[in-house]
Amino acid sequence: MKLKSQINHVIKEAFSKANIDEEPISVSESTKPEFGDYQFNGAMALSKKLRKNPREIAQQIIDNLDLTHVIVKAEIAGPGFINLWLDPLWVASLCETARNDERLSVAKRESPIKVVVDYSGPNMAKQMHVGHLRSTIIGDTLANLLTFLGDEVIRQNHIGDWGTQFGMLIAYLEEKGEDGSVSLKDLEQFYKDAKGRFDADEDFANKAREYVVKIQSGDAQCLELWQKFIDISLGHCEEVYDKLNVKLTRDDVRAESFYNDDLGSVIKDLETKGTLQESDGAQCVFLEGDEIPVIVQKGDGGYLYATTDLSALRYRANTLGAKRISYVVDARQGGHFKQVFRVAKEAGFVAEDVKLEHIAFGTMMDKGGKPFKTRDGGTVKLIDLLDEAVVKAKAAIKDKDEYSELEVEDLAKIIGIGAVKYADLSINRESNYIFNWDKMLSFEGNTSLYMQYAYARIQSIFRRFDADIKGGIIIGDALEQRLAVMLLRFEDVLERAALDAAPNQITTYLYDLVTLFMRFYEQNPILKEGVDEATKMSRLQLADLTAKTIKQGLDILGIQVVNRL
Ligand code: ARG
Repeated sequence: MKLKSQINHVIKEAFSKANIDEEPISVSESTKPEFGDYQFNGAMALSKKLRKNPREIAQQIIDNLDLTHVIVKAEIAGPGFINLWLDPLWVASLCETARNDERLSVAKRESPIKVVVDYSGPNMAKQMHVGHLRSTIIGDTLANLLTFLGDEVIRQNHIGDWGTQFGMLIAYLEEKGEDGSVSLKDLEQFYKDAKGRFDADEDFANKAREYVVKIQSGDAQCLELWQKFIDISLGHCEEVYDKLNVKLTRDDVRAESFYNDDLGSVIKDLETKGTLQESDGAQCVFLEGDEIPVIVQKGDGGYLYATTDLSALRYRANTLGAKRISYVVDARQGGHFKQVFRVAKEAGFVAEDVKLEHIAFGTMMDKGGKPFKTRDGGTVKLIDLLDEAVVKAKAAIKDKDEYSELEVEDLAKIIGIGAVKYADLSINRESNYIFNWDKMLSFEGNTSLYMQYAYARIQSIFRRFDADIKGGIIIGDALEQRLAVMLLRFEDVLERAALDAAPNQITTYLYDLVTLFMRFYEQNPILKEGVDEATKMSRLQLADLTAKTIKQGLDILGIQVVNRL
């Protein structure tokens, strides 16, 4: 239900009746209840063009406004704002329809497109650390959101499985004389030890480099060991994905190595287009206005991160057929993507109409505003952080004896992981954010617990009301009207969030919705004695649609609800 466009349509009709030959700007949600449900603020901008006082224009629009349905009241305010009140009967019937629809009246796109979402992309041979959290969950949310709206989403996990570190690991394996099964169990330590050797001993480092060449030239034995490292590393990642309730699978992995065979042709094609230049022995693309060129091949013949991304871009646009390619990657890689996107477009690797975007995000900070680290200054392993979240959530569950041990365990997982994800997704992704356990595990404020609690509370109403709902929704007062209108905004919010790739627009909406619901519930009792039958039925439906909307919203964020809390 695209609420705004329905209201815009009525305004447009008024424009043509009033012979205003302009495209009206979109209405916006009113900032205060006394300003109605929506506002039209376009009269001021028209005043210059039409050489008329904006209040006069506003009056002219209102005089031609159809007030029989959709909008029932319109008032001029201030210099020429138009405040609009929606028809409660219309609003009520739309809410009824939404409640009875499993998609909550959110339409599937009429012309869906193929979208590649590139996210997570951890580097192999190391465990995932907190730096991977944001890419993984923002990317997953975007993928869920676009899928829900009807696009054909292709998830791509561009793991870093190719590079000099693997030569180092194999050299260390050889040195220790192991077959690759024992020590690999603790890959993290193994990596550190190998790195220590690499930095300390020139002979070892040279060996490692030799192995790199061997892997790259396809030496079977080396490749087998390499594959083993990758399998173990990916196993670690999958454990994390599973804990995070993130939908990435092995099928979504298109590793850096996947593009190896194409890299030579990337260089050749750039050369044919005449964009390639040699500089200090390296093959580069110089972009107009950029000082630093994009290096695509080193003097020794080796390829770079950018080369692989160029190959990936044309695979995604041409083989997969994507019309939108979204990279959910740390803001610090902004320069890289800007350049790579430009090269790809200028070289014609990707058609003009394909939308390439870097969905950048900031860094996770500790309470003191420094990048998040362990007490001894190391990087925090993601898996440890998630386990800690579950432990902390368990402590936060109040009436533990009401649940079985297994239930407490499940509940703690849902609450703890939900809290970590929600805290991250609820801030503007481009800012850095402060990681704060106490804040994220609070029942109050813009937290997942607040949403989960509201959901559970509504479920408890339905446990007490054990009958069929009859009759329709009757908007009884201004608060009910606001709640109903808020519920109908869901699709507009999702569409906007998808366009901006902004999960925090969804959380902000959920927070506003739940806050409004809590007030409604306090002031408008549902099952209390003395509430007449029709009112009770109506309020039950509003509560039910609220719960369904919370659930659907959280589901897009990859956060679960619980029936009791
Ligand atoms: N492996 C990279 C890193 O850890 C992220 C990959 C992002 N995706 C891409 N197509 N470059 O920084």
